[in-house]
Amino acid sequence: MTFEWLKRYMPDGLYGRAALILVLPVVTLQLVVSVVFIQRHFEGVTEQMTREIARQINTVLDPEWDDDARLAERLSLDFLPTSAAQVPEAHIRRWYDFSGIVVIRTLDQHVVGFQRAHLVDDWTVHIWVQRGNEPVQMIEFNRKRASASNPHQLLVNMVVFGALMTLIAYLYLRNQLRPIKRLAKASEAFGRGRHVAYSPSGAIEVRAAGHAFLDMRARIERQIEQRTMMLSGISHDLRTPLTRLRLSVSMLDDTEREPLERDIDDMQKLIDAFLDFARGNADSAQPEPTDMPGFAQEIVDDCARAGVPVSLVDVDGAGQVTLRQTALRRALENLIGNAERYGTHCEVSVALTEKSLRIRVEDDGPGIAAGQRGAALRPFVRLDPARNQDSGTGVGLGLAIAADIARGHGGVLRLGVSETLGGLRADIVIAR
Ligand SMILES: Nc1ncnc2c1ncn2[C@@H]1O[C@H](COP(=O)(O)OP(=O)(O)OP(=O)(O)O)[C@@H](O)[C@H]1O
Ligand SMILES: [Mg+2]
Repeated sequence: MTFEWLKRYMPDGLYGRAALILVLPVVTLQLVVSVVFIQRHFEGVTEQMTREIARQINTVLDPEWDDDARLAERLSLDFLPTSAAQVPEAHIRRWYDFSGIVVIRTLDQHVVGFQRAHLVDDWTVHIWVQRGNEPVQMIEFNRKRASASNPHQLLVNMVVFGALMTLIAYLYLRNQLRPIKRLAKASEAFGRGRHVAYSPSGAIEVRAAGHAFLDMRARIERQIEQRTMMLSGISHDLRTPLTRLRLSVSMLDDTEREPLERDIDDMQKLIDAFLDFARGNADSAQPEPTDMPGFAQEIVDDCARAGVPVSLVDVDGAGQVTLRQTALRRALENLIGNAERYGTHCEVSVALTEKSLRIRVEDDGPGIAAGQRGAALRPFVRLDPARNQDSGTGVGLGLAIAADIARGHGGVLRLGVSETLGGLRADIVIAR
């Protein structure tokens, strides 16, 4: 038997679930106890007590006794003046006086000639009795003699203390959940490439998770730093001998010089690409609020000015998004650069919703086959050598850098087929 269907009705949040785990057994227990206790105990006791007072009333009203008044006084039963007209139409009790129901029922069963009862308050009971042709009698006695105490007090106590305990549990639980929320927030921010100050607190388990998170974050940051340092170190160190080489080559005569210079240019480009990749998200320190279609428009305009056949065709929604501008600009320029290199025409569109930002770059080139998209995103991977033969020297880093930057914003780079142009469709999707 599975409980899949039950999941739909379960609260999503940890607080809701914890509250349910706490409240459900308590409420069930209270209900069971109150039903059993009130029903069995109070009803039984009330019935016994009322039967006793009924017996006393019967005794006083018994015609065999002469001195009714003295006996009534002894038994604390007050006979009050009344008339047939004063007998109420129906029994009277307060709606929440549940033991009153039992009192009236028992009186009706046991008092001879019983007519009506009026349970005035917690202390007084009036009943009217008429036997045969005798005049109506009105008898007053203390309510405490007919039922133990009022069970509704128990109900009120239960509800009030139940509410009080729930409130205390709520406050306590909220404090317990706060450290978990802080940890979630810190991890989420780190996933989006932001470093948020965080110190573990709360219950032992939460603190342990917090420390584990801090260790992990420190290790990842160290690794990123090392990667950046290593790659930029290599790239930087290669530049000096390259410059020397260029100088020596310039001394040669033209026929020998040109191919060598081309090679040196290619190497220079390669090194620049390495540097770019190494920098990744690292260079522009903190993300800043960025005005959205405006920023994309700027990049597209810059590219168009540089002679790239690109245009911003579709904009949906507007607003501020927190972004690393330099990094995102590089990612988009890589995608647009690819579109230009592998196609002839490029279209950019922006869709901004409450939850996410999507920047789409489409072209009319050959696209990338579904099976090769994963590979194309890996660093230093260039697909299909034939396609790349006359497309200059790429390193195979453009898509890897763009994917890295998207990930650094807590998003993804998705590749697909352009519906309008037929070439590659590259989407950078970032959660807001
Ligand atoms: N718009 C596109 N249309 C068709 N194929 C593409 C497109 N963009 C990328 N590719 C393929 O994916 C491979 C990887 O692209 P990537 O941008 O990472 O490297 P690159 O463009 O070859 O070199 P560079 O590092 O200069 O960008 C490319 O070699 C190319 O085969
Ligand atoms: Mg490229």
